[in-house]
This record gives sequence, C-alpha cells and structure tokens, in this order.
Amino acid sequence: MDVAKLREDFPVLSSGVIYLDSAATSLKPRAVVDAVRRYYEEYTENVHRGMGRMAQRATDEYEGAREALASFIGAKPHEVAFTSGTTASINIVAEGIAWEAGDEIVVTRMEHHSNLLPWIRASKIHGLRLRFVELDDEGRLDMRSLEASLGPRTRLVALTHSSNVTGVVNDVEAVAKLAHDHGALLLVDGAQSVPHMPVDVRRLGADFLAFSGHKMLGPTGIGVLYVSEAAQDSLQPPWLGGGMVEEVTGDYYRLLGFPQRLEPGTPNIAGALGLGAAARYLSGIGMEGVLEHELELVRVALDELRGIEGLSLLGPWSPRGRLGIFSFSLRGRHPDEVAALLSEMSGIEVRSGYHCAQPLHMRYGFRGTVRASTYLYNTVDEIRALADSLRRISRM
Ligand code: ALA
Repeated sequence: MDVAKLREDFPVLSSGVIYLDSAATSLKPRAVVDAVRRYYEEYTENVHRGMGRMAQRATDEYEGAREALASFIGAKPHEVAFTSGTTASINIVAEGIAWEAGDEIVVTRMEHHSNLLPWIRASKIHGLRLRFVELDDEGRLDMRSLEASLGPRTRLVALTHSSNVTGVVNDVEAVAKLAHDHGALLLVDGAQSVPHMPVDVRRLGADFLAFSGHKMLGPTGIGVLYVSEAAQDSLQPPWLGGGMVEEVTGDYYRLLGFPQRLEPGTPNIAGALGLGAAARYLSGIGMEGVLEHELELVRVALDELRGIEGLSLLGPWSPRGRLGIFSFSLRGRHPDEVAALLSEMSGIEVRSGYHCAQPLHMRYGFRGTVRASTYLYNTVDEIRALADSLRRISRM
C-alpha cells in the first residue's frame, strides 16, 4: 500500500492538517465525491420507480452500489439494506423483532450508546431483561462473564466488533458460536471494524451487521444493515411506506422481500452511490493492506504514548487484538483543552469527551478522554507529531 500516493486522493489533506479523528468520521477520496457529484449533475432521478433512461441509470447504479457493499462484506445483495447509518440499523432491529416479555438481551460494557439505548428502551417497552457482559482490566471482553450472561431466555446478543474508545477487537466468531448454541441471534456493531479490517459476515457468524458509510470514506447519512438470509424471518420492518410493497388493496398490503422491505420511501441515493464508490476504493487497495498499515501505526503509537508523562490510556497497551484508536487523559488537563491545544498548536484534529460511550469511561474511572484515531492515510510521522505535541502540552 503506497500511503504517500493514496494521500493525494484526499483533497482535505492538502491543507496540511494531521487528521487523527477517523473514528468520528473519515476523510473522503475524490472517487467518492465524484460519484455523488455525477449523480446530481448527470442523472438525478428516483430509483425503482420510473422507466426513463435517467431513472434506469439511477436504479442500476444504486443496485450496483448494493452489490459492491455486499461483496465488501461477503454477503448476498438481498442481505444488504441501505439505512442512514449504524444508529438507524441498530434501531431497526430493536424495533423490528417481535419481542416476548421475559426475553433477554445481552449487551456489553463497551458499547457505543447507539448499541445500548435502543436495547434499554426495547427492554422497558416489552418487559425484557438486559444483561451486561463485564470487561477485564485492559478493556477486553470477559468471556466468562459473557458465558454467564447467556441462558435459555437469551433472544439476542448485541456486541461491537471493535470498540470506538479502546480499539479492542472482539472475538465475534467465538461469541457467535456461544449465542447460536443458546438459540440467540447476534447483532454486531461494525461501525469501527468494517472500515478498518477485512470483514466476512459468513466467517463472523453475525445475523445482523450494522455499519456506517461516513467512517469508511463514504458520505454521511448512509449506512448498511446486513440481515442474514436465515435471520430475515425474525425481523419485521418498523417503518412502512412507498417502494416496499408488492400489493396494496384497501386495508390489505403485502410487502416486498428483503432488502426492499427495509427501505421505505426514497432512499439516500447519492449517499448509497458514494458509499458504493468508497467500498470499491477500499477493495481496490485491499483491506488486508489497510489493516496491516493500521497495525504498524498501532505499534508506533503505543511506543510513543507510553513514554509521555501523566498520560493514562483507556484500553490495552498491548498491540494484540486492537485497532488504531487511542483514548487517554493527560494529568491536570481537561480532555477538551488538550484537543483544542493540539489543533491550535499543531494542526492535529482529534476528538474529546465520552465518545458516546459513557458506561465504558465510568467502568475505568475516566471523566472523558482525548481520542486519536488512525486510518489508511495516516503516517508514522503524523503519530510522532502527535506524541511530540502531547509531550509539549504535558510540560506546559
Ligand atoms: N460514533 C462516532 C465516534 O465514536 C461519532 O466518534
């Protein structure tokens, strides 16, 4: 992977910014911007409706984007529904399962609020029991706690593939096996994994996989809900409308199959086309290479951060089983202050706060953190620049 060359594909980088906030949203290559622009400039039309030439082209390109996404995660096109993002995808599942009072949902202490709040609400509405899987001292999943959380009433396990705070990658394959042994469904939040590593839904064993376009070089407001063929019967669409029905007569309607039944109304066509372009761009580079580069950045970052006085890392110091997300506090400094100083002093963009994962911060006694996160366009020099700036801030 030629990082220097691919950096030229990202217009924002020409400003000289050191962009270390890809876990919040990634930069966009020209190929993605062009795909969106072409749609608006050359063939703006709705999809799956008209028979005109522009409408046909829009439909073909839209379905082509779906195929690109399906192939990106090893799924069949009809298992891939476009949504507005990971949050929407998870909410669709939370609202679309026919829950029975007493059903149990297993979640973990490392979840993003988007993979927690929908389950809390579903449990209150339907009388379900929420069970929490605890974490070990490094921020990794405690598999014994997971096993203890599963039982005959477990209906669904909701788990992130990779934490948006610690970068820890969970052994989803093992969890899938345990969940399925208990007759439960498995929902995987892939928002931070799908953009960064090869993900194959069959190997993973997930019944549902949710991820966002904007974290994988695509536009905002578009994402995917993968529903495996086998799990499709367990999900009813929570929203109804046009474009998803086969027949409507008076008070009767029959819905189309997957994925159309999950896409009522006019979809985010431009977003889907941009996301299709993003998936093709990443496939062209090769996700093995993307991951390998990230793991090199992880090793350098952990080495550099370790030497900084007063820095406490939320997450494992070991590079094993983690991605390029580093959340930390600096003694005596508020995370927001550190983030603002990094930007002002060095043009380094990071995020500060709870990163929508307050229970995880509370578990380790952090009142917010500074978070630096990497992607394929980052370099070892940028990681060193971050460490240099942090050293200066900690001495100030
Ligand atoms: N969910 C995104 C993050 O973790 C926005 O920053």
